[in-house]
Amino acid sequence: MSFSFAIAVAVPALAQEPPGGMPQPVPQTPPTHDFVSHIGSVTGHADKGKEDYRRWCIGCHGPYGDGNGENAPWIEPKPRDFTAATFKCRSTPTGMLPTDEDLYNSITRGFNTSNMPQWRPLTPQTRADLIAYVKTFSPRWKTEKPGDAIKITPETPVNIESIARGNALFVKLECWKCHGPLGRGDGPSAATLTDSKDMPIKPYNFSTGGRLKCGETNADIYRDFMTGVDGTPMPSFADNIKPDEAWDLVHFLRTLQTTRPSKENEVLKAAGGKIPVIAPPAAPPAQESTPAPQQEENKPPSGGK
Ligand code: HEC
Ligand code: HEC
Repeated sequence: MSFSFAIAVAVPALAQEPPGGMPQPVPQTPPTHDFVSHIGSVTGHADKGKEDYRRWCIGCHGPYGDGNGENAPWIEPKPRDFTAATFKCRSTPTGMLPTDEDLYNSITRGFNTSNMPQWRPLTPQTRADLIAYVKTFSPRWKTEKPGDAIKITPETPVNIESIARGNALFVKLECWKCHGPLGRGDGPSAATLTDSKDMPIKPYNFSTGGRLKCGETNADIYRDFMTGVDGTPMPSFADNIKPDEAWDLVHFLRTLQTTRPSKENEVLKAAGGKIPVIAPPAAPPAQESTPAPQQEENKPPSGGK
């Protein structure tokens, strides 16, 4: 009697409804049956996802979905806090909720250079149920709709001119300030970057050729910088880059993955391994006609902020 009283006093905030047996922390979420997900023809149900979440995800993402699972202290980057509903990999514009498919693809793929495993072994139904349950942690899923997926225009031809134009954009848009002139993740700002939780974060290092977090195709890279990696300093450039320029940039970024076999690297090799230096895209008067970073080794171009 006095024992259970002591427990009840110790954990009133956790145990909303008096638990039957041993008191367990009970996530304070809205009724789960309100939440579903739609992935193709599969409908996920949060009621079902709850059990799977407690089995597979709770250790990192925590009982309240806030990323404070018992393993979290030892993990960098930290597990996602679902209560903020800020997600890195989206087809939707920056600041908007992802689609169910985006979340589904993320958990299927897992996150390179992090502890987030891939969940391909779980059935599509289970993954859909999990997505529905993940949505119970933030009220945003009640009040907002996911944005519309951005349009990705058909890919333009890979040739040395496209790569050169992409190189000029990489300089002009100052991608190098974070990613480094050679894409090695060592730009002048790299050491000081923090994410939305004030944790240090590193820009992607293209030269490792390692898997990208948000997918492996050229269209996935296009999406990365046109939607931004929300919750990180990686911004959306949707307002600064036209569709054809976006493909130029993708083609150039592929050449920074020096060890990864690609059409882009073949084209570069055939051109003698040199990217011709061209002025940045015409339109606004070119404020800086800086040399391509590849030719300038580790010296970032001058003239930027
Ligand atoms: C071993 C720890 C671990 C486990 C277990 C784990 N995660 Fe994660 N998860 C992470 C980490 C760490 C991140 C953040 C990765 C990053 O920011 O690069 C993450 C990120 C995510 C994201 C964010 C995707 C985005 O676009 O931002 C989702 C959704 C997610 N996890 C769902 C799940 C689900 C569902 C499960 C259970 C099936 C699960 N995770 C199990 C560690 C884990
Ligand atoms: C203010 C710093 C900053 C700038 C400027 C910046 N990035 Fe990033 N970028 C990052 C960070 C940090 C990450 C890593 C995000 C993560 O791992 O969660 C990243 C990741 C990426 C990724 C990989 C995403 C993935 O799926 O893993 C690509 C591609 C990328 N950036 C392209 C660009 C391009 C192209 C530009 C310029 C148009 C650019 N970045 C400008 C900081 C920046």
